[in-house]
Amino acid sequence: MQFQLTEEQLAVREAARDFAQQVCKPGVIERDSTMAYPTEQVRQMGELGFMGMTVSPEYGGSGLDNISYVLALEEISKIDNSCSVIMSVNNSLVCYGLETYGAEEQKQKYLTKLATGEWIGSFCLSEPEAGSDATHQRTTAEDKGDHYLLNGTKNWITSGGTSQVHLVIAQSNPDAGHRGINAFIVETGWDGVEIGAKEDKLGIRSSDTHTIMYNNVKVPKENRIGDDGFGFKFAMKTLSGGRIGIAAQALGIAGGAYELAVAYSKEREAFGKPISHHQAIAFKLADMATDIEAAKMLVYRAAWLKDTHGNYDQAGAMAKLFASSVAMKHTVEAVQVHGGYGFVKEYHVERLMRDAKITQIYEGTSEVQKIVISRGLLKGELYV
Ligand code: CAA
Repeated sequence: MQFQLTEEQLAVREAARDFAQQVCKPGVIERDSTMAYPTEQVRQMGELGFMGMTVSPEYGGSGLDNISYVLALEEISKIDNSCSVIMSVNNSLVCYGLETYGAEEQKQKYLTKLATGEWIGSFCLSEPEAGSDATHQRTTAEDKGDHYLLNGTKNWITSGGTSQVHLVIAQSNPDAGHRGINAFIVETGWDGVEIGAKEDKLGIRSSDTHTIMYNNVKVPKENRIGDDGFGFKFAMKTLSGGRIGIAAQALGIAGGAYELAVAYSKEREAFGKPISHHQAIAFKLADMATDIEAAKMLVYRAAWLKDTHGNYDQAGAMAKLFASSVAMKHTVEAVQVHGGYGFVKEYHVERLMRDAKITQIYEGTSEVQKIVISRGLLKGELYV
């Protein structure tokens, strides 16, 4: 067993840390406040190879491992979680899904643009009445011979206002239940694709989250991913990896809040000494550090399992469940360490606290992660 990162992994972490500090940090408070999309930051993430980190160089990706990917996400998430969610969805759900399950022509046509960040991708599964209960897709994709006719509404779509490509999950054969569901590559510019207003959110406010309507959209047959009826499994398999990305985001949020709390507690004095010398604060920092280390082990292990082709369904779910709860708990504590300053935007911790909440919700709520973990352990897939 080894706990050391390689030279390459360390270099990726350093590059992501520099990018977060130098490119994401300036203006992050204002972007959060005005909901301004991080256009320049996303462009540079593409240039740096952060938009297709694990994709093979053959398709324009960086060809790195999943440990490097989670390290980069973690660093960016310490500062700007609008950037990190755009990066995570593009990498874990869209690029990974296409590279692993897409046909060669689909990879040449779409993945080569998505992996470089020239295009951005969205993953369209959730619906107004199908969030956690994802098999109950109301969006339909009727087989019309040479094409499918897509109709329905998708909710809370990350990058919904900026993406050029949507991976859309839809029901083609309701009688077959989840085995009738397909996944499609849909271009935003096609007739019948309608983008709703940008959501005004509690956190990750500058990422663009939209409702998307598909009204009689003609999707060519060659844009279906995998065999007929593979769509639900495609979504589940892809989300298993996506959850590792969100776990890394949560880890970064907790780590960012911890770093701010440590720095502030060393500077701020009360009752004649830095507040870090008061046990009430020092013990909070000790609890934060311990929980963050534990979350790190779960996140890195899940990424390692993905790299080594192990089963990471439960490991990813555990990592997301735990890291998101650590992020929520300790961002609240970090605000408390800052006292009144923690409650104002200038000190950054209140934003991290607001951002933390979504990590317990998207890509499967904490309750869904418990379903995945418990089913796995009852089937004997999990060795504890
Ligand atoms: N890999 C492969 N197949 C899988 C699988 C996996 N990880 N998980 C389930 N399946 C298969 C099952 O084997 C089953 O197939 P068979 O009947 O052929 O055996 C089929 O899928 C249905 O599985 P279940 O019976 O377990 O389905 P369920 O209705 O009980 O639901 C669930 C399971 C885990 C709750 C699932 O519905 C789920 O994950 N829900 C949450 C959805 C979610 O994460 N949404 C996030 C939206 S995306 C997002 O947030 C992106 C963004 O922009 C940030």
